Parts: sequence; structure tokens; C-alpha cells
Amino acid sequence: MSQTSLAPNARPRPAIENPETAVAARAAIEAFARLAWGAEAGAEELYIQGNPFRRPMRAKDLPFMSLDRPLPLARLAGNTSLALHRLLINAYETDLLFLPPRDDAAAWRAFDAFYDAEALRLADRVRPVLEHLAFGALPQEVEIAGRWTGDLLDAYFREFLAEERKQAARGVAQDPVLAAILESADPTAAARHYLIQMAPDFLSEASAMARLAPGAYGPLQSALFNVLIDEYGAGVHRAKHSTLFEATLSSLGLDATPHYYWQFYQPGALALTNYFHFVARNKNHFFRYLGALFFTEASLVNATGRQGALLRTIFGDAVDTRYFDEHHHIDRHHSEMVLARLIEPAVAAYGQRAITGILTGFEEFRLLQAAADRDLIDQLSWAGHLVPNDPRVAPLVADWRARRDTAPSESFVECRDERSTTHIHPDDRLLVLEAGDMDFFPMAGVTLPLKAGDVLFIPGGRLHGSIVRSTECIYHQPILAAATADPLWRAA
Ligand SMILES: [Fe+2]
Ligand SMILES: [Fe+2]
Ligand SMILES: [Fe+2]
Repeated sequence: MSQTSLAPNARPRPAIENPETAVAARAAIEAFARLAWGAEAGAEELYIQGNPFRRPMRAKDLPFMSLDRPLPLARLAGNTSLALHRLLINAYETDLLFLPPRDDAAAWRAFDAFYDAEALRLADRVRPVLEHLAFGALPQEVEIAGRWTGDLLDAYFREFLAEERKQAARGVAQDPVLAAILESADPTAAARHYLIQMAPDFLSEASAMARLAPGAYGPLQSALFNVLIDEYGAGVHRAKHSTLFEATLSSLGLDATPHYYWQFYQPGALALTNYFHFVARNKNHFFRYLGALFFTEASLVNATGRQGALLRTIFGDAVDTRYFDEHHHIDRHHSEMVLARLIEPAVAAYGQRAITGILTGFEEFRLLQAAADRDLIDQLSWAGHLVPNDPRVAPLVADWRARRDTAPSESFVECRDERSTTHIHPDDRLLVLEAGDMDFFPMAGVTLPLKAGDVLFIPGGRLHGSIVRSTECIYHQPILAAATADPLWRAA
């Protein structure tokens, strides 16, 4: 009985209408990206050791990005989206407290720089612009048709809960994300990459919700505070949800320092975390927040049940799944609680404003979650099966060599230890190594060593990085015409 519908022809309004303001906003975004902690990743920074403030960016890409209107959801898996969401999480996290170890002088210097007055000023300046670019197109993706009453909304959400309950018995393989993990060449690597996508949210879990703790209180805020208390383990550190997730990571030999895997967050994963900050940081979106919260609490019951099962299938007894077991249990309670103690009373007290906001947040987050899942499935379908010199790539290379003088292609000469900070191309391309050696990184924990003569396929939209291992490395990136690479996907 959904009365929401997509409006494909809706045009997002421009982010900044006054051109002078647009120029100033772009300059502020670039200045924020060029802060020292956003410098490109160095040779030793594939993973960011012991410094939650170090967040390599690619400020050099920004001048080539169009930042004049909100990004459509269809472009979630792209380099502009990656840059916007990396910048946005940095802006949001200047409000969050990260404490380095006592004796780590370098990390304390990074702490001082991260919370420095100029950095905070820039974060405040760019945050609303980035929010508009990252999320300003979402309301056009969800059009609320017809007149919704409180009773209709309640029935719609109760039906959603009932449907979720019906789906509880579905196995791991019926979930497309989990199926992509199981089907990849190395499910242990794919499962680790999946956990890493959860890290930007779970290692500081419920921080967005905590933004709604201050204020003058009514029963609604007290009900929300009740959920917050559970997320924070009622002040018992070992029971805090982020502590449970740290234990999951540690049990698999993964590092639980926030942003250790910064380079491997996909834009979809960052967007999910940022959306909650967006609707919680801006108090005028409180009702959207409630709708998104209901979607996530209600869908997490089944999702965490299957995630726990998947991890036990892949890693056996070695993995600590308490994080997932706890959510499988408590989110049953949280989803009922959000509906009965937050949504229903909000609608009773605030009427149409609450109904529209709650429904919008619910549908927006559902769309965003589906797009983020797609981003992850596509990454695993490529990276999870990637081998150098796949015989199916050879004809494409031969075709490029035959037309080399005119075929679109980019060539690079790089020196030892030159690292390309992870990024995304808008087009399908090949990587053809002419001379030297490089390591190529298609997902966290996977290194493909490449030597002269090796070739790889890099689809548009897919996150990757590299580092040169020889004195010099020469390589080419022939750009493929649309659909040329389709057979590579089908066979994967
Ligand atoms: Fe939680
Ligand atoms: Fe919860
Ligand atoms: Fe690249």
C-alpha cells in the first residue's frame, strides 16, 4: 500500500544560486580539503595507523568536479560522491571526540590540528554546502503522493514490520550483499571488506543520535534517550555497541582504530553514516530522523541475524559475533519502541508536519540503503573476482593497441613509492603496465602485484588505489566505449 512514488523528471534546484557565492563556497571546500590532515596518502599509508584524524583526500580532483547542483542518487558510486562524503564526514566528526593514546605525541599533534579553530571554522562554513550537494536531490527521488493520515502511516509501518518478520527465515544466500560475499573468490577477504564498510558508523555508533540528546525535554526526547542509553551500553563500556564491534574486528585480526581503513570506505557506506548526521545535526529534520531511525532499527533485526550467521559460516568459532547477536535481539525491541513511543506520539502531537517528515526520512533512507548495497555488490562482483591478465581482457587490449594513435587513453609515469590515494573513475578502463612494478588495491586487505606486460580491467564506479614498487613505472589506461566491458561483468 505504498503511496510513495519516484518522480524521475524532478529537477534538483541549484546548490547556490548566486555565482559569487558559488565561487566562495567552492574555495571554502577546496581549503577544507587541503587542510594538512587531508593530504594525499603517503607510501606507508595504505592503512592509517593509530591516527583517527588522518584522512587522505584528493583535493587535486575537486577543480574537475561540478559542484553546482545536488548529486543524483544514481551517481552515489562516483568520485564526486566519494569526495563529498569524505569531506562531509570530516566536517561532522569535528563535533565528535576522539582521544589518542597518552604517549603518542604525533597523534596529539594531529588532535590539535583536527580541532584547531581554523579547521572548525572551515568545517562550519562548508557543512551546509556539502549537505546540499550530497543530499539535496533526495527529496526529488521520493515524492509523497496522496494525503497521508496518522492511521495510514501507522498501518504502513506495521505492515513493514510484519513483512520484515515474515522475511526472518530467509537464509544468508537470499540476501544479495551476503550472496556476493559468499560467491567471491575469497569470502574471508570480502567479509572483511564488508565489516570495514560498517566501521565509519559502528566505531562511533549512535553519535548522530547523541546530537538529539540536548534540549528542553518532552516524552519524545526521553523515549529517544532510552534508545540512546542502550546504544551506549547504559554507561557500561564493555556493553557499548561500538565496543562490541571493536571485538568483532579484533577477533578477525582487523584494526579497531577509527578510520584505520579510511582509504577503503566506499561512498555508499559513508553516505549512510552521513545521512544520520545530516538529519540529526539539523534540528529542522527531526521528523526525517525518526523515519530513518525506524527503517534502520526495523530492518536491522533480520540484517544483523544474517550477518552474524554469515560471519560464523565463513570464520567459524574464531569470530566474535556479539555485536550482531545483540542487535538481532535488541532491535526487535527498538523498532517496536521507535514506532510506539516515538512515531505514534509524534504524529499525535505534531500532525501533518510529523507525518510528512517521518515518511520522507523512512523512504529516503530506504533508497540510500538500497543504493549503498548496490555499490557494495558491484565492488565485490569486480574486486572479489579480479585477476591480472584475465583472458577475456586480452581482446580489448589488442583492440586498443591496434587503434592506439586515436583511441582515448591516459598515460602515466610514476616513481617508486608514489601512491595514488583511492579514487573512482567515471568510465570503464583498462590498466596496461608498460614498464616497472606496482601494487594494485581493489579492496581492503587485497593486494595485486603487477609487473610490466600485466593488464587489468577497472570498471567505472569502482574504488581502487595503487603504489609504485620499482624506480619508475609507466602505464596506460585505455578508456573503453560504453558497454564494451559488459561481457566481463556477465562472466564474473
Ligand atoms: Fe546499536
Ligand atoms: Fe538499536
Ligand atoms: Fe585509477
